[in-house]
Amino acid sequence: MLVTGGAGFIGSNFVRYLLRAEPAVRVINLDALTYAGSVENLKNLPEAEAGASGEVTGARHTFVHGDVGDRELIEGLLKKHRIDTIVHFAAETHVDRSIMGPELFIKTNVLGTLSLLEVAWKYWGLERSIGGRETRFHHISTDEVFGSLGPGEEAWTEDAPYAPHSPYAASKASSDHLVRAYGHTHGLPYTITNCSNNYGPYQFPEKLVPLMISNALEGNPLPIYGDGRQIRDWLYIDDHCEAIGTVVRKGRPGETYNVGGGVQPTNLEIVEKLCAALDEARPDSRYVPHKSLMKFVADRPGHDRRYAIDSAKIRAELGWKPRHALEEGLKKTIEWYLRHPEWLAAVRAQGDYRDWIARNYGRRS
Ligand code: NAD
Ligand code: DAU
Repeated sequence: MLVTGGAGFIGSNFVRYLLRAEPAVRVINLDALTYAGSVENLKNLPEAEAGASGEVTGARHTFVHGDVGDRELIEGLLKKHRIDTIVHFAAETHVDRSIMGPELFIKTNVLGTLSLLEVAWKYWGLERSIGGRETRFHHISTDEVFGSLGPGEEAWTEDAPYAPHSPYAASKASSDHLVRAYGHTHGLPYTITNCSNNYGPYQFPEKLVPLMISNALEGNPLPIYGDGRQIRDWLYIDDHCEAIGTVVRKGRPGETYNVGGGVQPTNLEIVEKLCAALDEARPDSRYVPHKSLMKFVADRPGHDRRYAIDSAKIRAELGWKPRHALEEGLKKTIEWYLRHPEWLAAVRAQGDYRDWIARNYGRRS
């Protein structure tokens, strides 16, 4: 299996899940190691080791530093390792960054996906199976392609019309269309999952949940965009990894599956829950009650108001459902960040991270 973007948040969790769930799988993990990816996320993999050079390799996992847009490299990997399955996570993923600098989102999410599709259908075009195993291109997408819901509007099913609002969402929508086009035109056997907001270990602390945890631990303000009453659907990372694994192995080719946690609090509620859980985990902190650190700041331009995703199809057809309630998932997430201060410190010490925080929040205060 070729996993792209496997050194990022969801990709690294998926690689860990896969090596445990499928004892016979061999994973080639291709990642460009942008600011959001790190080989630190791949330490202590089941059956893999990180060498001193940072290269991570083991019996069933090989890390390759490279770009999804590098066709020669990808073609070489497909041939050399007789890849029958591609799971494509690699992307630029932060909405706020896409507003300030959209070009990279088009390059990676649109053109990068196009390159991967071109190489895959040409390599697989001659044979529908590799070594007797069926081929599959699985594309990881987002619920943001559907736009924003008004109060009382029904949750999105797989048939909801595309209406992306941010440059990030538009680039993901474009990549979804390309994947379907390659299925239609070239017969590429694909599946797509459109998932809601993930949270859990190894999430880069520019996203809401890890940002709030890391700021709260240091007594920094907890920036709430606008009135904080925007709604997202939240899913614990392990549940998303299981959903992807299920669709890759059991999903019907040419189908899309929506994936969500079925729990839709406001941002204010999420941050309040995190603060309460931190008060409990760190009762002696001088920042208790952490809630007092919350601070309203200028809103995200074009901020989507409400997301809700209908996962009935994957539940009924493939028997997947989320295992973690929100409180349990948030508690596990906080525990992980408290147990890994060195991971958080290393990420936060990066020049890019400090620069991003200054650029994004400096202009909001
Ligand atoms: P992330 O930003 O944590 O990781 C992205 C990874 O892709 C990084 O390791 C980065 O180095 C790598 N990458 C970026 N450009 C690359 C390139 N040109 N070539 C190779 N690798 C490259 O992102 P994430 O949150 O783990 O998201 C993974 C995927 O899941 C994305 O496609 C995203 O759109 C989708 N998704 C994310 C969420 C969420 O809540 N995080 C929800 C639904 C869907
Ligand atoms: O819905 C799936 C999407 O979820 C994924 O496709 C994206 O890759 C992922 O980044 C995420 O997008 P969001 O924009 O929803 O995530 P983010 O963590 O940036 O923000 C979540 C909500 O919190 C959103 O309404 C904006 C708000 N927010 C965010 C930040 C970073 C704040 O109020 N303050 C903040 O500082």
